[in-house]
Amino acid sequence: MQNKTKKIILTGDRPTGKLHLGHLIGSLTNRIKLQDEYEQNIMIADTQALTDNFKTPEKVRQNILEVLLDYLAVGIDPQKTTIFVQSLVPQLPEITMYYLNLVTVPRLERNPTIKEEIKLRKFSEGIPAGFLVYPVSQASDITAFDADLVPVGEDQLPLLEQCNEIVRKFNSIYGKTLKEPKVLLSKTPRLIGTDGKNKMSKSLGNTIYLDDNDDIIYSKVMSMYTDPNHIHVNDPGKIEGNTVFTYLDAFCNDMDEVNSLKRQYKKGGLGDVTLKKFLAEILIKLIKPIRERRREFAADEKKLYEILKNGSENAEKKAAKTLKKIKSAIQLLTF
Ligand code: TRP
Repeated sequence: MQNKTKKIILTGDRPTGKLHLGHLIGSLTNRIKLQDEYEQNIMIADTQALTDNFKTPEKVRQNILEVLLDYLAVGIDPQKTTIFVQSLVPQLPEITMYYLNLVTVPRLERNPTIKEEIKLRKFSEGIPAGFLVYPVSQASDITAFDADLVPVGEDQLPLLEQCNEIVRKFNSIYGKTLKEPKVLLSKTPRLIGTDGKNKMSKSLGNTIYLDDNDDIIYSKVMSMYTDPNHIHVNDPGKIEGNTVFTYLDAFCNDMDEVNSLKRQYKKGGLGDVTLKKFLAEILIKLIKPIRERRREFAADEKKLYEILKNGSENAEKKAAKTLKKIKSAIQLLTF
């Protein structure tokens, strides 16, 4: 039984690829902790993923299971967290329809997240309407679960702002029905990719995945960006912008050791290969148990579908309650 006094969390990921180290420190680790204190709902946002991947549905479909496996492997527990699939909750698009009346097209076009994404995606046939309105559908995801808190990264802030505008507008027109959610901003900044240039992202090929094997992790670490002017072992090296040190700061538990390595590197005498071997060992040790649990879960596909089915049925019940309140606030017929 879920404790009714627990605050509610709703968060999600688009199933467009496997999750990686950036997700692990940016959101997953946090969710493992949050599931004990909160009523946590995690949505695999396949409908949202389709708004810019509608021509490659098989990619979205396959990644639903990949993302689920990543969740389970790191320790998100379906007994504690409702893990569900967005497209299996029909109340969500229905709520979206009512919210669409409460936003203007120019307001959607001004949303900084959307603007940035449009720039990156270069839709050659024009901006799909479904894409432009996905912030409204995201407002529906959040409010359908009556969420108090939405843990997200900084790039999602404009979406939360837009959600709260919709909530306020709804409440002012139809009477106080919806709750304004608060953002729970991730404390860790976006993890830089192994290239040292951009945030870790599957589309940039600078990722380390949670199921990479030891050899792959090793070779990815060996090719990591360091200090390009640190050519000879005895040259003094730079710490700032050195990806290996960024990762050591993020993943090494022994800060004394990291600080001592930083001193040696700055002074000269610590080679990149030695340093990278040290990091590779840490990451291999971190990922190995996750990869192994992932394999175990992957072996029982039936159980995976069962988790998604149960989670989505549970989510549907929660969303149905909200939909009823919304429809009655709008004075629509309900029987
Ligand atoms: N937009 C989020 C992302 O790209 C995914 C998402 C969909 C989401 N609906 C949500 C996140 C609701 C938080 C709350 O990762």
